[in-house]
Amino acid sequence: MNVIATTGSVLGPAELIAVGVSKTGSLPAAIDKAFDGQLSAALADDKFKGTAGALTAFRSLGRVPGKWLAVVGTGSGSPEDVRRAAGAAASFARDKGLASLRLEVGDHAEFQVEGIIAGNYRFDMYKDEDDRKSPLESVVLVNADADGIETGAVLGAARSLTRDLVNGPAEDIHPQSMAAAARKLASGQLSVDVWDYAKLKAEGMGGIEAVGRGSDRKPVFVHMVYTPNGTPTAEVALIGKGVTFDAGGLSIKPSSGMMDMRCDMGGAGAVLGAMSALEGLGVNAKVHGIFGAAENMLGPNAFKLGDVLTFRNGKKAEIHNTDAEGRLLLADCLSFASEIDEVTHIVDLATLTGAAVVALGEHYTACYSTHDDFARTLIDAAEAGGEAFWHMPLEQLYKDKLKGEMATIKNLGDRWGGSITAALFLQNFVGDDKIWAHLDIAGPALIGSKERHLAKGATGAGVPGLLRWLRDL
Ligand code: BES
Ligand code: MN
Ligand code: ZN
Repeated sequence: MNVIATTGSVLGPAELIAVGVSKTGSLPAAIDKAFDGQLSAALADDKFKGTAGALTAFRSLGRVPGKWLAVVGTGSGSPEDVRRAAGAAASFARDKGLASLRLEVGDHAEFQVEGIIAGNYRFDMYKDEDDRKSPLESVVLVNADADGIETGAVLGAARSLTRDLVNGPAEDIHPQSMAAAARKLASGQLSVDVWDYAKLKAEGMGGIEAVGRGSDRKPVFVHMVYTPNGTPTAEVALIGKGVTFDAGGLSIKPSSGMMDMRCDMGGAGAVLGAMSALEGLGVNAKVHGIFGAAENMLGPNAFKLGDVLTFRNGKKAEIHNTDAEGRLLLADCLSFASEIDEVTHIVDLATLTGAAVVALGEHYTACYSTHDDFARTLIDAAEAGGEAFWHMPLEQLYKDKLKGEMATIKNLGDRWGGSITAALFLQNFVGDDKIWAHLDIAGPALIGSKERHLAKGATGAGVPGLLRWLRDL
């Protein structure tokens, strides 16, 4: 997608001309005039009030250049509202297969471009040619500052990478292809180390090993390191759950609950998306990107209920349900990150529990942290990035629910507070000296219906918030 900024009139050549109207603004007179005053009347009929992302579109029928004219609400004109307006225009363009957009929604070019890429995204690579709609090829931002275009493009591409990985069928997105996706990011500033099954087993990663060994496609452990130009301002680790398909293992899921379980590598996908953008954004912190990838399957070699696993940090846990597998992979990754002395902050992302979705729905990521101020930092970063994290209690009183019989802990709590007990399980593997946050993205990673300018399916949850936080370090 080629994006440029220009000055002048929005009424120029493009398949879609989109003009923003704020809550307090009104349609530019020149446009209303081109439609003999019919447009403002039509908007009134549609009860168009300039709400951010609201869109009413008309065929131009030769009255203005281009095929369509869209009026989009820019709300208060804030960066977030501008992002939604641009996203709505781009989503409409994709639905109609329009290849060029001329857009005037105010300034904040970075947010416009990010919104356009997110709104224009569709996952249609498996569709017949004539069942696909053209993506935007060229975009002209009218009366916006060109400065943010490049940054917006990097942010947008990062999110699209994550969405492609999460949307992709498990037959194509499996541990080996996740490792390949990491290797593709390697550069002078980004190193990639992949441990195969034999190596991760020898390295004491009993959680990743157990979850992954029931599949013919053996698990991998991936460690990426981004090094900034100049002395790093901070050193942090991002960790992702990379279960490329979660059948539940021997504690098999019902068919309905398994349908979307290709999304279960959403945490690792978000880590890959975020890592892909660090160089382009010029992030000043050193960032470790870590994930374990595995298929949680049933087979002659699958791990079993009643097994006792030993993790990287030497702790053991007994298995009461093989479907509570994400925490097992994450345990090894958290232990690994905790071994790195220079790392001060660890953030893990995981499609960890159905309980988080029950509690918060598909819009919110559940955010847990050992440090309330760090949770606040991440929640603010998410909001600035255009997504929503919600602060959840890491309630230590519930630790008793994880007491094992043979081993000190087990991998399953009781019926209640399942997202909290999952977070408490993870806390066993975080070094005492680390500032840690856990993001349960089970709700927003893959949504069942369109939300704002984001199509049904993968949303790239976690990527905008993480990148906002990392850029501020
Ligand atoms: N991957 C699932 C969680 C999930 C559910 C993600 C829905 C996205 C949408 C996870 O591995 C899982 O199966 N969790 C169990 C935990 C239970 C066995 C303690 C769950 O939520 O039911
Ligand atoms: Mn599971
Ligand atoms: Zn899972």
